[in-house]
Amino acid sequence: MNDITIVRALHVVSVVLWIGGVAFVTTVLLPAVRCVKSPQERMQLFDQIERRFAWQARVSTAIVGLTGFYMLYRFDMWDRFRYAAYWWIDAMVAVWLIFTLMLFIVEPLNLQRWLLAQSASKPEIAFKRVEWLHRILTFISVITVLGAVIGSHGPF
Ligand code: HEM
Repeated sequence: MNDITIVRALHVVSVVLWIGGVAFVTTVLLPAVRCVKSPQERMQLFDQIERRFAWQARVSTAIVGLTGFYMLYRFDMWDRFRYAAYWWIDAMVAVWLIFTLMLFIVEPLNLQRWLLAQSASKPEIAFKRVEWLHRILTFISVITVLGAVIGSHGPF
């Protein structure tokens, strides 16, 4: 077994733990939290539960980035960024950047405080925003996984 096989396996396992968690939040957790009667309580409950996932997401995002860039370096694939056929490489980096920004910068600094303040005055709107953000992130992540698997193994 060579280093690339191990790195690729780590990349995929981390993607599963991370994107699988995001999909779970979108399709199971948020709809379940919506069933909580008072809109004021929803945000707080969601925040408490999602905080436990934040560390899993941070660690797996970091491993995905390290293993991904290692594969680019090891195969010397940098020129792929120039070709439209390799859109899925750009998509992987874009999805990774969005989550890295949110998990490591926006969330610890501002978002949490801003969301809680919003939920105090307009809880229904704030929760709807959170739901739509997760739906969009899940959708682009799933398209990226599809593109990456089909693209890296050849479409035929
Ligand atoms: C910094 C970010 C990332 C980089 C640099 C990166 C890089 C790579 C590279 C170089 C490959 C191998 C391509 C090949 O063999 O032709 C790969 C495979 C893959 N990546 Fe990423 N990736 C990143 C983030 C992501 C993200 C965010 C996802 C999921 C949303 C993802 C999902 C996958 C999948 C599913 C494969 C295919 C594995 C296989 O079937 O063999 N990657 N990635």
